[in-house]
Amino acid sequence: MTTSEKTITTRRTLGRSGIDVSALGVGCWAIGGPWIMDGQQAGWGEVDDDESVRALHAAIAGGVTFFDTAANYGAGHSEAVLGRAVADRRSEVVLATKFGYGVDEAGKSVSGVEVTPDAVRRSCAESLRRLGTDWIDLFQLHVGDLEPARAEDVRAVLESLVDEGTIRAYGWSTDDVERARVFAAGPHCASIQHQLNVLEDNPAMLDFCESENLASVNRGPLGMGVLTGAYDRGATLSATDVRGTGAAWMKYFIDGRPNPEWLARAAAIREVITSGGRTPAQGALAWIWGRSPATVPIPGVRTVAQAEANAAALQHGPLTQEQMAEVARLLA
Ligand SMILES: NC(=O)c1ccc[n+]([C@@H]2O[C@H](COP(=O)([O-])OP(=O)(O)OC[C@H]3O[C@@H](n4cnc5c(N)ncnc54)[C@H](OP(=O)(O)O)[C@@H]3O)[C@@H](O)[C@H]2O)c1
Repeated sequence: MTTSEKTITTRRTLGRSGIDVSALGVGCWAIGGPWIMDGQQAGWGEVDDDESVRALHAAIAGGVTFFDTAANYGAGHSEAVLGRAVADRRSEVVLATKFGYGVDEAGKSVSGVEVTPDAVRRSCAESLRRLGTDWIDLFQLHVGDLEPARAEDVRAVLESLVDEGTIRAYGWSTDDVERARVFAAGPHCASIQHQLNVLEDNPAMLDFCESENLASVNRGPLGMGVLTGAYDRGATLSATDVRGTGAAWMKYFIDGRPNPEWLARAAAIREVITSGGRTPAQGALAWIWGRSPATVPIPGVRTVAQAEANAAALQHGPLTQEQMAEVARLLA
Protein backbone atom coordinates (compact mmCIF):
# COMPACT_ATOMS: atom_id res chain seq x y z
CA MET A 1 0.00 0.00 0.00
CA THR A 2 1.19 3.55 -0.71
CA THR A 3 1.19 6.12 2.12
CA SER A 4 -1.96 7.85 0.85
CA GLU A 5 -3.79 4.53 0.39
CA LYS A 6 -2.79 3.61 3.93
CA THR A 7 -4.21 6.89 5.30
CA ILE A 8 -7.46 6.25 3.45
CA THR A 9 -7.76 2.78 4.93
CA THR A 10 -6.58 3.49 8.48
CA ARG A 11 -8.40 6.77 9.30
CA ARG A 12 -12.02 7.95 9.19
CA THR A 13 -13.83 11.22 9.75
CA LEU A 14 -16.87 10.60 11.95
CA GLY A 15 -19.47 11.78 9.48
CA ARG A 16 -20.23 15.49 9.46
CA SER A 17 -18.61 16.07 12.86
CA GLY A 18 -15.12 16.40 11.46
CA ILE A 19 -13.86 14.21 14.33
CA ASP A 20 -10.89 12.14 13.16
CA VAL A 21 -10.77 8.50 14.30
CA SER A 22 -8.97 5.30 13.42
CA ALA A 23 -10.88 3.18 10.90
CA LEU A 24 -11.06 0.55 13.65
CA GLY A 25 -12.70 1.06 17.01
CA VAL A 26 -12.99 -1.13 20.08
CA GLY A 27 -16.32 -2.27 21.50
CA CYS A 28 -16.49 -2.27 25.31
CA TRP A 29 -19.59 -4.36 26.00
CA ALA A 30 -17.76 -7.49 27.14
CA ILE A 31 -15.39 -5.66 29.52
CA GLY A 32 -18.35 -4.44 31.57
CA GLY A 33 -18.61 -7.80 33.32
CA PRO A 34 -21.92 -9.29 34.51
CA TRP A 35 -25.18 -7.31 34.54
CA ILE A 36 -28.86 -8.08 34.29
CA MET A 37 -31.28 -6.59 31.80
CA ASP A 38 -34.98 -7.27 32.27
CA GLY A 39 -34.16 -10.27 34.44
CA GLN A 40 -31.68 -11.88 31.96
CA GLN A 41 -27.90 -12.03 32.08
CA ALA A 42 -26.64 -9.45 29.57
CA GLY A 43 -22.88 -9.48 30.28
CA TRP A 44 -20.17 -11.72 28.84
CA GLY A 45 -19.21 -13.28 32.16
CA GLU A 46 -16.62 -12.33 34.76
CA VAL A 47 -13.81 -10.04 33.63
CA ASP A 48 -10.40 -9.05 34.92
CA ASP A 49 -10.40 -5.23 34.90
CA ASP A 50 -6.60 -5.04 34.85
CA GLU A 51 -6.51 -7.19 31.71
CA SER A 52 -9.28 -5.05 30.21
CA VAL A 53 -7.20 -1.91 30.79
CA ARG A 54 -4.13 -3.62 29.31
CA ALA A 55 -6.21 -4.63 26.28
CA LEU A 56 -7.44 -1.06 25.76
CA HIS A 57 -3.84 0.20 26.05
CA ALA A 58 -2.74 -2.42 23.51
CA ALA A 59 -5.43 -1.20 21.11
CA ILE A 60 -4.18 2.39 21.50
CA ALA A 61 -0.60 1.26 20.96
CA GLY A 62 -1.80 -0.45 17.78
CA GLY A 63 -3.27 2.78 16.42
CA VAL A 64 -6.88 2.61 17.65
CA THR A 65 -8.37 5.90 18.84
CA PHE A 66 -12.12 5.16 18.89
CA PHE A 67 -13.88 3.42 21.80
CA ASP A 68 -17.55 2.49 22.03
CA THR A 69 -19.25 1.78 25.33
CA ALA A 70 -22.69 2.30 26.93
CA ALA A 71 -24.14 3.15 30.31
CA ASN A 72 -25.77 -0.29 30.17
CA TYR A 73 -22.60 -2.38 29.89
CA GLY A 74 -21.96 -3.74 33.36
CA ALA A 75 -24.44 -1.09 34.61
CA GLY A 76 -21.75 1.56 34.30
CA HIS A 77 -18.71 -0.64 34.92
CA SER A 78 -17.52 -0.63 31.29
CA GLU A 79 -17.54 3.18 31.25
CA ALA A 80 -15.56 3.24 34.50
CA VAL A 81 -12.93 0.81 33.18
CA LEU A 82 -12.65 2.72 29.89
CA GLY A 83 -12.34 6.00 31.82
CA ARG A 84 -9.55 4.49 33.92
CA ALA A 85 -7.72 3.28 30.81
CA VAL A 86 -7.73 6.67 29.07
CA ALA A 87 -7.38 8.93 32.13
CA ASP A 88 -3.85 10.03 31.20
CA ARG A 89 -4.52 10.26 27.44
CA ARG A 90 -8.05 11.63 27.15
CA SER A 91 -7.29 14.07 24.34
CA GLU A 92 -5.75 11.29 22.23
CA VAL A 93 -8.93 9.21 22.09
CA VAL A 94 -12.51 9.59 20.92
CA LEU A 95 -15.10 8.24 23.34
CA ALA A 96 -18.56 7.10 22.29
CA THR A 97 -21.15 5.99 24.80
CA LYS A 98 -24.89 5.30 24.81
CA PHE A 99 -27.94 6.21 26.85
CA GLY A 100 -31.64 5.46 26.93
CA TYR A 101 -32.26 2.98 29.75
CA GLY A 102 -32.56 3.11 33.53
CA VAL A 103 -29.25 1.98 35.04
CA ASP A 104 -28.91 0.74 38.62
CA GLU A 105 -25.15 0.82 39.16
CA ALA A 106 -25.18 -0.74 42.61
CA GLY A 107 -27.73 -3.41 41.68
CA LYS A 108 -25.86 -4.20 38.41
CA SER A 109 -29.12 -4.06 36.52
CA VAL A 110 -30.74 -2.16 33.66
CA SER A 111 -34.42 -1.78 32.91
CA GLY A 112 -36.96 0.49 31.26
CA VAL A 113 -36.56 3.04 28.47
CA GLU A 114 -35.73 6.50 29.91
CA VAL A 115 -35.52 9.18 27.24
CA THR A 116 -37.27 12.25 28.64
CA PRO A 117 -35.14 15.41 28.40
CA ASP A 118 -34.36 15.16 32.12
CA ALA A 119 -33.40 11.50 31.82
CA VAL A 120 -31.10 12.16 28.84
CA ARG A 121 -29.35 14.97 30.72
CA ARG A 122 -29.04 12.85 33.87
CA SER A 123 -27.65 9.93 31.90
CA CYS A 124 -25.13 12.24 30.23
CA ALA A 125 -23.97 13.55 33.62
CA GLU A 126 -23.59 10.00 34.96
CA SER A 127 -21.60 8.86 31.93
CA LEU A 128 -19.29 11.88 32.27
CA ARG A 129 -18.69 10.97 35.91
CA ARG A 130 -17.95 7.31 35.22
CA LEU A 131 -15.76 8.09 32.20
CA GLY A 132 -13.95 10.74 34.26
CA THR A 133 -14.19 13.31 31.50
CA ASP A 134 -15.67 16.77 30.85
CA TRP A 135 -17.01 15.88 27.41
CA ILE A 136 -18.37 12.94 25.44
CA ASP A 137 -17.31 12.85 21.80
CA LEU A 138 -20.23 10.79 20.50
CA PHE A 139 -23.42 10.30 22.55
CA GLN A 140 -25.64 7.60 21.07
CA LEU A 141 -29.26 6.67 21.62
CA HIS A 142 -29.18 2.99 22.60
CA VAL A 143 -32.89 2.24 22.13
CA GLY A 144 -32.88 0.89 18.58
CA ASP A 145 -36.66 0.72 18.16
CA LEU A 146 -37.70 3.98 19.82
CA GLU A 147 -40.76 5.57 18.17
CA PRO A 148 -39.66 8.23 15.64
CA ALA A 149 -41.79 10.95 17.28
CA ARG A 150 -40.03 10.42 20.62
CA ALA A 151 -36.68 10.32 18.83
CA GLU A 152 -37.33 13.84 17.52
CA ASP A 153 -37.61 15.05 21.12
CA VAL A 154 -34.40 13.22 22.04
CA ARG A 155 -32.63 14.78 19.05
CA ALA A 156 -33.61 18.25 20.31
CA VAL A 157 -32.04 17.58 23.74
CA LEU A 158 -28.90 16.27 22.06
CA GLU A 159 -28.60 19.44 19.96
CA SER A 160 -28.80 21.42 23.23
CA LEU A 161 -26.04 19.30 24.77
CA VAL A 162 -23.84 20.02 21.73
CA ASP A 163 -24.51 23.75 22.11
CA GLU A 164 -23.57 23.52 25.78
CA GLY A 165 -20.30 21.76 24.94
CA THR A 166 -21.04 18.58 26.93
CA ILE A 167 -21.08 16.37 23.84
CA ARG A 168 -19.42 16.96 20.47
CA ALA A 169 -21.80 14.94 18.30
CA TYR A 170 -24.50 12.31 18.56
CA GLY A 171 -25.79 9.20 16.81
CA TRP A 172 -28.33 6.40 17.08
CA SER A 173 -27.72 2.70 17.43
CA THR A 174 -30.47 1.37 15.19
CA ASP A 175 -30.82 -1.00 12.25
CA ASP A 176 -33.81 0.87 10.82
CA VAL A 177 -33.11 3.41 8.06
CA GLU A 178 -36.39 5.29 8.66
CA ARG A 179 -35.41 5.86 12.28
CA ALA A 180 -31.89 6.84 11.26
CA ARG A 181 -33.46 9.46 8.98
CA VAL A 182 -35.04 11.17 12.01
CA PHE A 183 -31.65 11.70 13.65
CA ALA A 184 -29.93 12.57 10.36
CA ALA A 185 -32.16 15.66 10.19
CA GLY A 186 -30.18 17.11 13.13
CA PRO A 187 -27.05 19.05 12.11
CA HIS A 188 -24.82 17.44 14.74
CA CYS A 189 -25.80 13.85 14.04
CA ALA A 190 -22.51 12.15 13.08
CA SER A 191 -23.18 8.44 12.92
CA ILE A 192 -25.49 5.47 12.87
CA GLN A 193 -24.37 2.37 14.71
CA HIS A 194 -25.75 -0.77 13.11
CA GLN A 195 -25.17 -4.48 12.74
CA LEU A 196 -22.73 -5.34 9.96
CA ASN A 197 -20.51 -8.30 9.29
CA VAL A 198 -19.53 -10.51 6.38
CA LEU A 199 -22.58 -12.73 6.94
CA GLU A 200 -24.99 -9.87 7.71
CA ASP A 201 -24.85 -7.15 5.09
CA ASN A 202 -27.00 -4.01 5.29
CA PRO A 203 -26.82 -2.25 1.90
CA ALA A 204 -29.73 0.10 2.67
CA MET A 205 -28.09 1.47 5.82
CA LEU A 206 -24.67 1.77 4.17
CA ASP A 207 -26.20 3.70 1.24
CA PHE A 208 -28.02 5.93 3.70
CA CYS A 209 -24.86 6.67 5.74
CA GLU A 210 -22.88 7.46 2.59
CA SER A 211 -25.58 9.73 1.15
CA GLU A 212 -26.07 11.59 4.46
CA ASN A 213 -22.34 11.82 5.27
CA LEU A 214 -22.72 9.80 8.47
CA ALA A 215 -20.22 7.34 9.87
CA SER A 216 -21.42 3.73 9.77
CA VAL A 217 -20.29 2.36 13.13
CA ASN A 218 -20.44 -1.41 12.90
CA ARG A 219 -21.42 -3.59 15.83
CA GLY A 220 -21.12 -7.37 15.84
CA PRO A 221 -18.33 -7.27 13.22
CA LEU A 222 -17.04 -10.68 14.36
CA GLY A 223 -20.47 -12.26 14.86
CA MET A 224 -19.85 -12.17 18.62
CA GLY A 225 -16.85 -14.46 18.09
CA VAL A 226 -18.31 -16.94 15.59
CA LEU A 227 -16.35 -15.40 12.69
CA THR A 228 -12.97 -15.56 14.45
CA GLY A 229 -12.31 -19.27 14.02
CA ALA A 230 -12.10 -19.62 17.82
CA TYR A 231 -15.35 -21.61 18.05
CA ASP A 232 -16.17 -24.98 16.54
CA ARG A 233 -19.35 -27.07 16.67
CA GLY A 234 -18.37 -28.61 19.98
CA ALA A 235 -17.95 -25.31 21.83
CA THR A 236 -20.30 -24.55 24.72
CA LEU A 237 -20.76 -21.20 26.42
CA SER A 238 -21.90 -20.90 29.99
CA ALA A 239 -25.20 -19.29 30.97
CA THR A 240 -23.20 -16.55 32.75
CA ASP A 241 -22.24 -15.33 29.26
CA VAL A 242 -25.01 -13.60 27.27
CA ARG A 243 -24.08 -15.83 24.33
CA GLY A 244 -24.86 -18.90 26.41
CA THR A 245 -28.22 -17.85 27.78
CA GLY A 246 -30.22 -19.27 24.88
CA ALA A 247 -32.04 -15.95 24.40
CA ALA A 248 -34.32 -16.00 21.35
CA TRP A 249 -32.60 -12.99 19.70
CA MET A 250 -29.14 -14.57 19.93
CA LYS A 251 -28.60 -15.74 16.35
CA TYR A 252 -24.84 -16.43 16.53
CA PHE A 253 -25.19 -18.98 19.31
CA ILE A 254 -28.14 -21.31 19.77
CA ASP A 255 -28.64 -22.82 23.23
CA GLY A 256 -25.08 -21.83 24.10
CA ARG A 257 -23.50 -23.42 21.02
CA PRO A 258 -22.26 -21.70 17.87
CA ASN A 259 -24.94 -21.60 15.20
CA PRO A 260 -23.81 -24.40 12.81
CA GLU A 261 -25.19 -22.54 9.79
CA TRP A 262 -23.00 -19.54 10.64
CA LEU A 263 -19.96 -21.78 11.15
CA ALA A 264 -20.53 -23.41 7.75
CA ARG A 265 -20.90 -20.07 5.96
CA ALA A 266 -17.82 -18.70 7.72
CA ALA A 267 -15.86 -21.80 6.63
CA ALA A 268 -16.99 -21.33 3.02
CA ILE A 269 -15.34 -17.90 2.75
CA ARG A 270 -12.33 -18.52 4.99
CA GLU A 271 -9.81 -19.05 2.22
CA VAL A 272 -10.70 -15.77 0.51
CA ILE A 273 -10.82 -13.56 3.59
CA THR A 274 -7.61 -14.94 5.09
CA SER A 275 -5.60 -14.18 1.95
CA GLY A 276 -2.39 -12.24 2.45
CA GLY A 277 -1.81 -13.76 5.88
CA ARG A 278 -4.89 -12.39 7.60
CA THR A 279 -6.50 -14.30 10.47
CA PRO A 280 -10.26 -14.99 10.11
CA ALA A 281 -11.03 -12.06 12.46
CA GLN A 282 -8.78 -9.73 10.44
CA GLY A 283 -10.45 -10.98 7.26
CA ALA A 284 -13.91 -10.23 8.68
CA LEU A 285 -12.79 -6.66 9.44
CA ALA A 286 -11.21 -6.35 5.97
CA TRP A 287 -14.57 -7.28 4.41
CA ILE A 288 -16.28 -4.45 6.33
CA TRP A 289 -13.70 -1.90 5.16
CA GLY A 290 -14.11 -3.21 1.62
CA ARG A 291 -17.84 -2.66 1.86
CA SER A 292 -17.88 1.14 2.31
CA PRO A 293 -15.47 3.98 3.16
CA ALA A 294 -17.98 5.12 5.82
CA THR A 295 -17.51 2.00 7.97
CA VAL A 296 -15.87 1.92 11.40
CA PRO A 297 -16.07 -1.62 12.85
CA ILE A 298 -15.90 -1.81 16.64
CA PRO A 299 -14.93 -5.41 17.52
CA GLY A 300 -15.26 -6.23 21.19
CA VAL A 301 -12.11 -7.40 22.96
CA ARG A 302 -11.31 -8.83 26.36
CA THR A 303 -7.62 -9.64 26.06
CA VAL A 304 -4.39 -7.98 24.98
CA ALA A 305 -3.91 -10.65 22.31
CA GLN A 306 -7.31 -9.92 20.74
CA ALA A 307 -6.72 -6.14 20.84
CA GLU A 308 -3.30 -6.51 19.19
CA ALA A 309 -4.56 -8.89 16.52
CA ASN A 310 -7.50 -6.65 15.62
CA ALA A 311 -5.35 -3.50 15.52
CA ALA A 312 -2.95 -5.31 13.19
CA ALA A 313 -5.84 -5.71 10.73
CA LEU A 314 -5.48 -1.99 9.98
CA GLN A 315 -2.15 -2.71 8.31
CA HIS A 316 -3.72 -5.27 5.96
CA GLY A 317 -6.45 -2.84 4.85
CA PRO A 318 -9.68 -3.81 3.06
CA LEU A 319 -10.28 -6.82 0.83
CA THR A 320 -9.83 -6.06 -2.87
CA GLN A 321 -12.91 -5.62 -5.05
CA GLU A 322 -12.16 -9.04 -6.61
CA GLN A 323 -12.10 -10.65 -3.17
CA MET A 324 -15.33 -8.86 -2.21
CA ALA A 325 -16.97 -10.23 -5.36
CA GLU A 326 -15.68 -13.73 -4.63
CA VAL A 327 -17.09 -13.61 -1.07
CA ALA A 328 -20.46 -12.49 -2.48
CA ARG A 329 -20.37 -15.34 -5.02
CA LEU A 330 -19.54 -17.95 -2.37
CA LEU A 331 -22.31 -16.76 -0.06
CA ALA A 332 -24.95 -16.39 -2.78
N1 LIG B 1 -27.34 -2.26 20.60
C1 LIG B 1 -26.11 -1.83 20.53
O1 LIG B 1 -25.85 -0.65 20.50
C2 LIG B 1 -24.97 -2.83 20.48
C3 LIG B 1 -25.24 -4.20 20.41
C4 LIG B 1 -24.17 -5.08 20.31
C5 LIG B 1 -22.88 -4.59 20.30
N2 LIG B 1 -22.64 -3.25 20.39
C6 LIG B 1 -21.26 -2.71 20.37
O2 LIG B 1 -20.52 -3.39 19.38
C7 LIG B 1 -19.34 -3.97 19.96
C8 LIG B 1 -18.94 -5.20 19.18
O3 LIG B 1 -19.96 -6.16 19.10
P1 LIG B 1 -19.95 -7.47 19.95
O4 LIG B 1 -19.06 -7.27 21.13
O5 LIG B 1 -21.34 -7.86 20.17
O6 LIG B 1 -19.36 -8.60 19.03
P2 LIG B 1 -18.10 -8.79 18.09
O7 LIG B 1 -17.27 -7.59 18.07
O8 LIG B 1 -18.64 -9.32 16.83
O9 LIG B 1 -17.32 -9.99 18.83
C9 LIG B 1 -16.51 -9.71 19.93
C10 LIG B 1 -15.93 -10.99 20.48
O10 LIG B 1 -15.16 -11.67 19.51
C11 LIG B 1 -14.05 -12.29 20.15
N3 LIG B 1 -12.82 -11.71 19.56
C12 LIG B 1 -12.52 -10.39 19.37
N4 LIG B 1 -11.35 -10.25 18.75
C13 LIG B 1 -10.87 -11.50 18.53
C14 LIG B 1 -9.71 -12.01 17.91
N5 LIG B 1 -8.81 -11.20 17.39
N6 LIG B 1 -9.54 -13.34 17.87
C15 LIG B 1 -10.46 -14.18 18.38
N7 LIG B 1 -11.60 -13.76 18.99
C16 LIG B 1 -11.81 -12.43 19.06
C17 LIG B 1 -14.16 -12.00 21.62
O11 LIG B 1 -14.96 -13.01 22.21
P3 LIG B 1 -14.43 -14.25 23.09
O12 LIG B 1 -15.08 -14.05 24.38
O13 LIG B 1 -14.94 -15.41 22.34
O14 LIG B 1 -12.97 -14.20 23.18
C18 LIG B 1 -14.94 -10.72 21.61
O15 LIG B 1 -15.57 -10.41 22.82
C19 LIG B 1 -19.75 -4.20 21.42
O16 LIG B 1 -18.64 -4.37 22.26
C20 LIG B 1 -20.51 -2.92 21.68
O17 LIG B 1 -19.61 -1.84 21.91
C21 LIG B 1 -23.67 -2.37 20.46
